[in-house]
Amino acid sequence: MLRLEGKVAVITGGAAGIGLAAARLFVGEGANVLIVDVNEEACEKALRVIGNASVSYILSDVSNADDTRRYVRTAIDRYAGIDIFVSNAGIEGTTRRIPKYPIHLFDKVMAINVRGVWLGLKFVIPEIERRGGGSIIITSSLGGIKGAGGLSPYITSKHAVIGMMRTAALECAQIGIRVNTVNPGQIDTRMIRALEEQMIHASAQESKETILKTIPMRRYGTPNEVALLMLFLASDESRFCTGGVYMVDGGGSAG
Ligand SMILES: NC(=O)c1ccc[n+]([C@@H]2O[C@H](COP(=O)([O-])OP(=O)(O)OC[C@H]3O[C@@H](n4cnc5c(N)ncnc54)[C@H](O)[C@@H]3O)[C@@H](O)[C@H]2O)c1
Repeated sequence: MLRLEGKVAVITGGAAGIGLAAARLFVGEGANVLIVDVNEEACEKALRVIGNASVSYILSDVSNADDTRRYVRTAIDRYAGIDIFVSNAGIEGTTRRIPKYPIHLFDKVMAINVRGVWLGLKFVIPEIERRGGGSIIITSSLGGIKGAGGLSPYITSKHAVIGMMRTAALECAQIGIRVNTVNPGQIDTRMIRALEEQMIHASAQESKETILKTIPMRRYGTPNEVALLMLFLASDESRFCTGGVYMVDGGGSAG
């Protein structure tokens, strides 16, 4: 028996990086997956990479309420319901100290990383309840439990979704919906490369070496290593787990 046989999963930011790894893993475990993303080219590529009729996509901006209603409606129309919601879409913003950080970028990071998660919960929870329960996984970060100079909106947003998750977990505990965060450390995706390039070192390679020194395991994680934790939280194997903060960070939070 596959671990997600007959389940329907909606994955935001599912066209690339961690979300794509989750989409691929979930389809391999028997789920139907709806990828929600803003990047059409990446969505088309994701369908080719996964190469399975059980996955489709919809272009939606998670920070927009109408788009959120539309992706939820699409999941119902295509797959008859939602059992698993991976609220994973996120952006890093830029790297500046607070006095120099552009206000419009603060608003954008918060809109996608916080409002986007909240809108998803708002419209998805009633649908999962209709199915008799399920699992919600929010992608927070190592930056959800620790600070990092230069990334104030991102760090704020990733702390915020832990509070949101805890509230949702309490609200949903008696209707069969579990809600948890997955908190990746540095993972080898576009996002970590963008951060390497923005650091004040002479080269991205130097920045990478500086970052690696902060990771006890001395390497970046892979998107699949995060997706495996998401799979555990999505599946019935984690049936007593709710309200939890799950690190996948090569030891980054230990020190
Ligand atoms: N890569 C890391 O080191 C790392 C570490 C900790 C947490 N995270 C978190 O993991 C999640 C995924 O990041 P990733 O590393 O895979 O990044 P990524 O940039 O590779 O993928 C993010 C995806 O989200 C999509 N997206 C961006 N804005 C969107 C919007 N408004 N609506 C819908 N989709 C949108 C992008 O098009 C992209 O496909 C993010 O929430 C990120 O903060 C990443």
